[in-house]
Amino acid sequence: MALLDRAIVRLLPTVPRPVVRRVASRYIAGERLEDAVDTVRRLNGAGKVATIDVLGEEVTSADEARAITRAYIDVFRAIEEHGLDSNVSVKPTGLGLKLGYDVCRANLETVVRHAASQGSFVRIDMEDSSTTSDTLRMYRELREAGLDNVGVVLQARLRRTERDIRALADLRPSVRICKGIYLERELIAYTGFDEIRAAYVRCLELLAKHASHVGVATHDDYLITAAKCLPPERFEFQMLLGVRPELGNRLVRDGHRLRIYVPFGRDWYAYSVRRLQENPRIAGYVASDALGRMFGANGRP
Ligand code: FDA
Repeated sequence: MALLDRAIVRLLPTVPRPVVRRVASRYIAGERLEDAVDTVRRLNGAGKVATIDVLGEEVTSADEARAITRAYIDVFRAIEEHGLDSNVSVKPTGLGLKLGYDVCRANLETVVRHAASQGSFVRIDMEDSSTTSDTLRMYRELREAGLDNVGVVLQARLRRTERDIRALADLRPSVRICKGIYLERELIAYTGFDEIRAAYVRCLELLAKHASHVGVATHDDYLITAAKCLPPERFEFQMLLGVRPELGNRLVRDGHRLRIYVPFGRDWYAYSVRRLQENPRIAGYVASDALGRMFGANGRP
């Protein structure tokens, strides 16, 4: 990342929220469920499937966690009503993990059972390393309770992940593998770019043996090429809304299955900041936003 981009990433927490919101708008479908429905319909029309995420994380009240749980029930209703090709992704701390394991577990089970009743699927996103063990425990408990319409996410960045894949092997899990967005201490995580890539490739090899299905979540050309050796019926590519859409179009044209992660909701800030921190040209976006405001959208002051 260029020097100026790195400097802007460090300063992001001080950037005014309206600027963050404008610059990050391409990563988010909108605030309302209708926005997510429109986005997924458009993606489906372009040959892509989706996973819908209700924005909201680190909730601090049981009411908030229940509201997010109810929002997912509305999402399932919309998926059915509009005939969308989409499942959902959930964040444990959005469903109340920080309020207690049992609170989150109960809300997650409600979402997964609701999904099962209409033949849908729930992916449990993986958050920072303080949540990894609880998230994997919840996943195992749900699977052992007979719920097969649920999958989990693993982060190649974490040193424990190869062990976790082996430990989950008896469940033949459905796994989304990603690099991992949360910066973790060197003690528990790989931190170098090449190390993380190499760990990702090792995870792909293990998942080819132990997983029932692999969601290859990346926009990294090197890893996309590495994943193409998996049996086509056992994997799909997954990308984030607004990131390298031309690459996604190419994958679809080449006959690959591609799922786009579609977040919506009012709690957009934390997700937006994470996406901007990953954008290698963040300085350019912030600068063009500032110029756009100075001169107006049509280029006139
Ligand atoms: P990398 O960051 O090297 O990006 C490769 C290239 O993609 C970059 O060079 C750049 O060109 C482009 N790019 C990447 N991000 C961009 C951005 N924001 N804007 C513009 N261009 C960008 N993480 C996690 O910890 N838990 C989770 O549950 C998930 N879930 C998840 C779902 C899906 C569908 C995806 C695609 C990703 C996640 N992630 C995640 C995020 C993931 O861990 C990782 O942080 C990002 O995917 C970026 O890593 P890449 O593999 O794309 O490589």
